[in-house]
Amino acid sequence: MSISDREHLATRLLQSSASHSYDPGIEIDWDSPAVDSLYYVPPHRSSLYGTAIWENLTQEQRITLTRHEAASIAGLGIWFETILMQLLIRGYYRQDPTAAHAQYALTEVADECRHSVMFGKMITALGTPVYRPDGVNEFLGKWIAATATGPRMFAAILICEEILDTLQREAMASEQVQPLVRMVSRIHVVEEARHVRYAREELARQVRAAGKGRLAFDKLVIGRAAYLCGTRLIHPAVYKSIGVRPSDGWAAARANPHFRSTLRWAGERVVSYLKDLDLIDGPGKMLWNRSGLLDQQAAGSVSPAT
Ligand SMILES: [Fe+2]
Ligand SMILES: [Fe+2]
Repeated sequence: MSISDREHLATRLLQSSASHSYDPGIEIDWDSPAVDSLYYVPPHRSSLYGTAIWENLTQEQRITLTRHEAASIAGLGIWFETILMQLLIRGYYRQDPTAAHAQYALTEVADECRHSVMFGKMITALGTPVYRPDGVNEFLGKWIAATATGPRMFAAILICEEILDTLQREAMASEQVQPLVRMVSRIHVVEEARHVRYAREELARQVRAAGKGRLAFDKLVIGRAAYLCGTRLIHPAVYKSIGVRPSDGWAAARANPHFRSTLRWAGERVVSYLKDLDLIDGPGKMLWNRSGLLDQQAAGSVSPAT
């Protein structure tokens, strides 16, 4: 992609931002009550769907579990967006403020600000704890936020954005899902389409510009980001909401063929793009294998504590 192509794309994305941006404070009726019979993620996407635990749950408990799973996904989204905003602002600091691609980076920060407020309001409406990465993942998040640039920055962004996008495209169209979650998903999908386009183009450009040594290290960081998304999309603490020990629920989800296929389905698009750029190999491959996002056996023996 030449510099003028980069400016051309950024100009188009700025135009789209001007005409298709939503203020969740105005667009969403936060006071409307939940519908008793509806789920918060499509039931077949619940991490325990089809397991012995699921079969023994009442309908109400199944709905409760999906409420906490939706909150877990939103919590991961906020955590990730907060890292992304720091990276974009740091990149912008070094750029020409008259360039369209620099202005687009700042516009994307504005989108993510609204998204994180929207997800936060949704978690309040769901009445759940705030679930987000902790322990080693929390530390790695701080490190990435402070240091990531180039291919590892844009690949980590894409992994999280595209997985969320696939899940939300289905949720926004599902009549089994609460109207509030459908609306939040719809707003996010519309605005994230621009982010995915921008990150895909930037990633390809930065991979071409990077040397071999740089890419070897970046592939390791990218593998770790994939591992985090695959293993922390659903926080183990969600299972407390149905009276199941987190480690038992987590183990059942990791062994659940339905959930394993959900993870592969959610990762399919970004995995295929990153494979084309030759970013899924080398020192990061083992982490990819354990993430559950690749089309192969996910490791059931990974500790929930890491
Ligand atoms: Fe977002
Ligand atoms: Fe985004």
